[in-house]
Amino acid sequence: MKTNKLSELIRHKYGPIYRIVVAGRSIVVIADQGAVSFLDRDPAKVFSNEEVFTRLIEGVFGITTNSVFVHDVMRQKLFPLVGKWLSHPRSSEDLLQSMDPELVTQLTTFGNSASSSIVNLSELVSRTLYVASCTAFFGPSFPATETLPDYQLIDARLPLLITGMPFVASDAVQARKRMLDRMISFIGSWWESDEEPEGVSTMVLDFLHSMKDAHLSKREAAGLLSLFLWGSQINTWYMAFWLITNIITGHDTMERIQAEIDGLAFQTCKREGTKDHSQTPLVDSAITENLRWATTSSIIRRATKDTQIMFGDAAIVIEKGDYILADVKAVHHDRDIFRTGKLQYRPLSKIGESSQFCCTYANRLGRRCSCKGKSMALLQMRQIVIRLFQLYTVKPISGVAEKAQSPHLRKPNSSLGSLSESSRQFYVELTLRREKLEL
Ligand code: HEM
Repeated sequence: MKTNKLSELIRHKYGPIYRIVVAGRSIVVIADQGAVSFLDRDPAKVFSNEEVFTRLIEGVFGITTNSVFVHDVMRQKLFPLVGKWLSHPRSSEDLLQSMDPELVTQLTTFGNSASSSIVNLSELVSRTLYVASCTAFFGPSFPATETLPDYQLIDARLPLLITGMPFVASDAVQARKRMLDRMISFIGSWWESDEEPEGVSTMVLDFLHSMKDAHLSKREAAGLLSLFLWGSQINTWYMAFWLITNIITGHDTMERIQAEIDGLAFQTCKREGTKDHSQTPLVDSAITENLRWATTSSIIRRATKDTQIMFGDAAIVIEKGDYILADVKAVHHDRDIFRTGKLQYRPLSKIGESSQFCCTYANRLGRRCSCKGKSMALLQMRQIVIRLFQLYTVKPISGVAEKAQSPHLRKPNSSLGSLSESSRQFYVELTLRREKLEL
């Protein structure tokens, strides 16, 4: 039985807060909006995600010695810098401006001027976003196209990699080693001589300086940069894939969004309007609704002391060492909160609402949003949709279009942010819109 289905059944039988024991670990699962909000606010500062991030540092980039210190540097030095550069529209817009030309170049490589082309959507999304982001973050000398297959493999094998079990996912273990070696070589000359790599963004230079000041080794610094790159991509690939899939399989939505995008000039990469003056309210509302619908439920914390979580007026006892898993997806799909129904995707009904990241929902639920890259993610999702539909008429290909409506493709069934195998097999037809290119 699928985990989603199982958790639904358990919830139905035992209510929105229950305890399970997995491999000897006691996990308290919470699927209640007040309790999730309480966990996020963490008024007594007792819930830690250090173990999750340390596991990611070890699993995704194989840095096993010194991982607690590396984690501390990441949290205390790197995360504030990510927040400074990417959580506000003002600062992330400059990066988006430098990403846009590469975004268009990459999208153009999928088209064919003589006839339509059939393209794997997951490949289109990941390659376009990855190469454009690498160019903007690390400059033109970064080996973006060469490293992409390794990142895709790491992403696909992530659930196995983070178990840290020996003899599993050996292809992905090799991929992460290659990726780390390339990153070490990329920062190499700078690390030794302070000679800055050409075209590197100020944000990445800030990262490099702060990691050097913290006395990380070159390998550790390369691992953290690789982890940052991975973190900047995985959720965005996943969300952008579902955003485009949902737009093109909803006929009314597609037509109206296409019309909205056709009203924009092609040449300029516009600065974000305020929520009242957004140039693309339909695209924004599709993004917002997609963030609710396709959300992954991966907020995990560990209690550092005996404590309690408030559930209405009741207090749930949590013991030191307990894991708490916030089932955000269950909350986002709760019919009592969102009348849209469980798996309905109705972006057009959301026009006029604020379009601030998943926090639109987080805020409505009384949660704060801890994502430090939220503005960048929003801008990137909007830009890839705008550029894709400016360049092409996009259709799900026949046969697969019906599949797109079938449960295994309609359900975003990942809990880690990586796409399922069936989603990776989703193809679209692209027909070049010559008139747009000639502008
Ligand atoms: C659509 C894309 C994205 C989604 C849905 C998303 C979602 C999230 C969520 C739910 C968290 C909280 C995890 C937790 O509390 O355990 C988070 C944290 C974080 N995100 Fe994102 N994210 C996205 C894109 C990005 C991007 C593009 C970046 C940076 C380039 C980024 C950087 C971060 C960082 C650094 C944190 C950790 C913050 C902290 O613990 O202080 N994210 N993200």
